[in-house]
Amino acid sequence: MNLRIPGPTPVPAEVAQAGAAEMINHRGPEFAALIKRTTEGVKTVFQTQNDVLTLTTSGSGGMESALVNHVSAGDPVLIVTVGVFGKRFVDLGNVYGARVTELAFDFGSAADPARIDEALRADPSIKTVFVTHNETSTGVTNVDLPEIARIAHSHDCLLIVDAISSLSSIPCPVDEWDLDVVVSGSQKGWMVAPGLAFVSVNERAWERQRQNQQPRFYFDLQRAKAALESGQTPWTPAVSLYFQLDHALGLMLAEGLDSIHARHKRMARMTRDGIRSLGLELFASEGVESDTVTAVKVPEGIDGGQLTKVAREEFGTVFAGGQGELRGKIFRFGHLGWVREDDVQQGLQALEGTLDRLGYRVAGRA
Ligand SMILES: Cc1ncc(COP(=O)(O)O)c(C=O)c1O
Repeated sequence: MNLRIPGPTPVPAEVAQAGAAEMINHRGPEFAALIKRTTEGVKTVFQTQNDVLTLTTSGSGGMESALVNHVSAGDPVLIVTVGVFGKRFVDLGNVYGARVTELAFDFGSAADPARIDEALRADPSIKTVFVTHNETSTGVTNVDLPEIARIAHSHDCLLIVDAISSLSSIPCPVDEWDLDVVVSGSQKGWMVAPGLAFVSVNERAWERQRQNQQPRFYFDLQRAKAALESGQTPWTPAVSLYFQLDHALGLMLAEGLDSIHARHKRMARMTRDGIRSLGLELFASEGVESDTVTAVKVPEGIDGGQLTKVAREEFGTVFAGGQGELRGKIFRFGHLGWVREDDVQQGLQALEGTLDRLGYRVAGRA
């Protein structure tokens, strides 16, 4: 199968194999050495000197940890949304009793920093801003993230970033952009199976945590930091995923961050060009298209559900459908992690075959 969804992404055989190694004591010296090494590697990819905690949880768990450690019930927060995953922060905020102001941008477009500035001017009591770096549901990157960070800080706000589907694939230099809390997830560009979330925390965020009254237990980042100092995690970690991560980081650091970012840019351009040449329309506005996932409008007269079904069953290629209100209207072509020209080429051929099979005719072709 050519897994062309925006996560989980293909895991190289050698990474999968690394995960099959003999189990070790998670309170012993081998694990201490392992977590020290993987934490250093993850920090290199985050381009940060901040603390980075690895949690055994999915990306949403990482998001929940970012919320519960920095926001108490009743706190006013601004949540900037450009799609389904931004709205997950809204759901989380509501569940934990935060006073949520959502600044929603149309699906397909990116966040406008000037409107974030306006929203923060309108309510100076807001001291926390949430934003998604790369919105996987719409194939949009919030390219103005550095400016959003500058604006948030100018209002004395903490900025919490979901970089789950960007970090490791698209540049997101945490220290250079001064991002306070950043979350990523193993099943995206990291070439590791699902189950680990990475959360970076800077001094501004630790300071907030020390004052934050919100009860938390499994996701308490201060506990995770204290445990890490003795080479452990507070709870039993997904040790096999750490084995995978260790191996995948070796591959990533050997390739080099700049090369990884350039490869993702190349794969994304190839995907977009191929899709346009089939006469299809991209969902993301021009200039903010994601380099990890391309969202495509399902052409008039074609059933989106049929498209992903035929691609999978007859062409061995798995595309993702649309989520929420975009179900049936778009499909998504993932190109992140362990992806090369051949994978994209095959994906495009499968798409062309699928469309042909569904009776769609590319303009200008026989
Ligand atoms: C941008 C973004 N945020 C959050 C999530 C949620 O992560 P998970 O499904 O691992 O909980 C995803 C995963 O698809 C994502 O792409």
